[in-house]
Amino acid sequence: MINLSQPIDLTDPDAEAFLRGIQGNIIKGHGRDHTSHLILKIIGEIPAAKKWIADFSQKFVTSAAASNRMTMSWKADVNSAGEPFFMFLLTAEGYRKLGFTDQQIPSPMNIPFGGVQFDPYFKLGMKVQTDNSLPRKLPDPPVDQWETPYQDTIHAMVLLADDSKERLEHSITEISNSIKGIFQTLTIERGDVLRKKFLRGELVVEHFGFQDGISQPLMIRQDIDKEIAKRGNAHWDPSAPLSLVLVEEPVAPGNYGSFMVFRKLEQNVKSFWESVEELAGKLGKPVDESAALAVGRSQDGIPLLPTAVIVDGTDANDFHYDQDDKALLCPFHAHIRKTNPRGDVPRNLPAPAEFERFRRVVRRGITYGYRPDIGLPSGGSRPEKEVGLLFMCFQSNLDQFVIQQEGSDEKDFVVEGVGPDATIGQSSAPVPQTWPGNVKHTMANFVKLKGGEYFFSPSISFLTGL
Ligand code: HEM
Repeated sequence: MINLSQPIDLTDPDAEAFLRGIQGNIIKGHGRDHTSHLILKIIGEIPAAKKWIADFSQKFVTSAAASNRMTMSWKADVNSAGEPFFMFLLTAEGYRKLGFTDQQIPSPMNIPFGGVQFDPYFKLGMKVQTDNSLPRKLPDPPVDQWETPYQDTIHAMVLLADDSKERLEHSITEISNSIKGIFQTLTIERGDVLRKKFLRGELVVEHFGFQDGISQPLMIRQDIDKEIAKRGNAHWDPSAPLSLVLVEEPVAPGNYGSFMVFRKLEQNVKSFWESVEELAGKLGKPVDESAALAVGRSQDGIPLLPTAVIVDGTDANDFHYDQDDKALLCPFHAHIRKTNPRGDVPRNLPAPAEFERFRRVVRRGITYGYRPDIGLPSGGSRPEKEVGLLFMCFQSNLDQFVIQQEGSDEKDFVVEGVGPDATIGQSSAPVPQTWPGNVKHTMANFVKLKGGEYFFSPSISFLTGL
């Protein structure tokens, strides 16, 4: 019997069967370089849609067990194209369209330690953020300014991932042909991993040019042991229980899935760097150092806080803000401090450490858009639009995504008047942040929502049994 309140141990005799039941990419990322996301609306007969989903899931959807096996065989030959990866996800409207009642639609895992027990957001969908009567109003652009396909009712997403772009395109064609008359493809998003050369090698970056995907909650015992051996855990415990992401399905007891936030976030690279340059002028510091203050790490991923263990300087992550409770090294408004406050919340609320740790999310996003300039010295043509992040994160309760509203977008997080997250914060009237030397400078609104939705990734047996 797998205990959800702990990480999973792959040597547990029940682990393989458990992992065969859940989709891959939830407890560990699929790791492919290219993705495509078919955003779908059911237009055909319901029995035909159910049959298509069941057949597709039987033949293609990659379980967490299969995903682990694929990763191991790819690691044995990293130059190979590996194997393709497939996921299928439903929105609350998708469940309803397939005939499920609201009681049968997945409900959030109860968040322990004083969390919101009832989170209505999955059932309401992402577009509700325009409704001012709801407690969680995200300062996103109104729905009529989203890209047209996202203004429509979305029922499902097929997520394809592959290291071979050619094979990925072939899969898209095959799927597009097979869904004709059953699903309408509202849009297809394409994600491509972006890499940039640094002194310490080529790293995966997001469009502002910073290494991304370093700090993640780890839910596999063997991954945790490896991480601790390599990067230490004197300050930060990278482990997380399975219940951080998994929730039992009401119609398939004993089977588990996860809520996924999907947000297409456009990045204005030009205005981000212009603002950093202005900040550097005010601070009298180099541009790179000033930029690191906005994120909390340098572009090549080195955190502003010292870490206990540094192995080749790689992906250091063993730090905690108890080491910097006055924010002298890393500002409270730095992106990584707002979205994973490592002790700031319990120190200030007061609340147990678990309260904060249970509001972590597992990020699985990928960059989109073409960037021929990314390797060029600063000053190259920095795009203002059409590039960004297909942000995705998994959690067992969408209340965990409160880090966007109460963390990134909120002016009073941990410290009153701290202002928005300097990298991704959105605000119609941003409060200027306070930088070293009491310098005031406003950094906000470089990231804009183009559309999105809340999805659930059901268990394999739910999907194949439709
Ligand atoms: C970390 C960039 C959106 C949550 C990071 C890092 C970068 C980054 C450069 C540091 C590397 C790492 O630790 O992996 C961006 C950009 C975004 C974006 C450019 C939008 C275009 C978001 C959103 C959220 C989020 C929407 C959630 C609301 C996090 C978290 C971490 C992180 C939790 C890890 C912090 C830590 O553990 O110290 N992001 N991010 N990010 N980001 Fe974002």
